[in-house]
Amino acid sequence: MTDALAAGTVRLADRNVPRLGYGAMRLPGPGVWGPPRDRDEALAVLRRAVELGIRVIDTAWYYGDDVANELIAAALRPYPDDLVLVTKLGGARRPDASWYPAVSDAELRAGCERDLRVLGLDSVPVVHLRWMGGESVDGVTFADALGTMLDLRAAGKIQRIGLSNVTLEQLEQALAVTEVASVSNQYGPTMRDDQPVLDRCAAEGIPYLPFFPLVSGPGVSGDDRLAEVAGRYGVSPAQAAIAWLLQRSPVMLPIPGTSRVAHLEENVAAAGLRLDDKDLALLDG
Ligand SMILES: NC(=O)c1ccc[n+]([C@@H]2O[C@H](COP(=O)([O-])OP(=O)(O)OC[C@H]3O[C@@H](n4cnc5c(N)ncnc54)[C@H](OP(=O)(O)O)[C@@H]3O)[C@@H](O)[C@H]2O)c1
Repeated sequence: MTDALAAGTVRLADRNVPRLGYGAMRLPGPGVWGPPRDRDEALAVLRRAVELGIRVIDTAWYYGDDVANELIAAALRPYPDDLVLVTKLGGARRPDASWYPAVSDAELRAGCERDLRVLGLDSVPVVHLRWMGGESVDGVTFADALGTMLDLRAAGKIQRIGLSNVTLEQLEQALAVTEVASVSNQYGPTMRDDQPVLDRCAAEGIPYLPFFPLVSGPGVSGDDRLAEVAGRYGVSPAQAAIAWLLQRSPVMLPIPGTSRVAHLEENVAAAGLRLDDKDLALLDG
């Protein structure tokens, strides 16, 4: 079976990691809330991901709450030495499961403690500051929140700072004060507004983890061009979308999410798929 390594590698957190990762957001129950649909399958997905060579797992304490992190710890501890866990801080959930930005100093610190406790780590390898607003959120500016992240890194609670849902200006602002380990913004076959950030990441050699790589594009929901291309290779539209992403940039590190082993295996198989120039041009168009 194709291994994630077939996607090639990129440098993240001082390691050469396969350019195909896994996003844990689909592990909790419906609406990214509560227990998984099938706990055994959720654990199997995580173990199979590592077996298939995946070494980047994206998660957040507010997936669940704590559900994705708890499953990761249950399935994978002791963690392989070369596994890079990527968490994010900046969001939170209300009791009705609705999402809200939580970027105050106290909220970011509390979220980090929660990641450490549930994942069973002393320090998180990469933590994205997940920004959910414009200039400021409840009076907290991006610079303020970044300041807390720098403090958390200085305290050893996090090893590297990444960014999520940021503008090009925010990326530049962060690069002026710190190394940026990775960027995770929305990007997919039909959602390319973030191309300038992707291009900047490519110029800096910063891994780019597109979120909603399948659902923000037509990969899963069905798109004529993607279906046409997929049909030519005898693969699914989701696989064609992953292959397109991988060929789009050498820093691209898709993290497709799934709660099913069969979909995980299908997604990893796409690491070895190469679309020809004509099909890339069709999807680029
Ligand atoms: N930084 C951020 O702000 C942010 C925001 C959103 C997401 N993320 C991260 O990005 C990851 C990816 O995003 P995502 O999980 O929302 O979206 P996605 O990867 O675009 O799509 C996931 C959806 O597609 C389905 N799917 C997966 N593989 C499939 C396949 N081969 N065939 C058919 N359906 C398939 C999944 O359902 P099944 O479970 O049924 O397979 C799920 O409903 C998340 O898991 C999360 O870790 C980060």
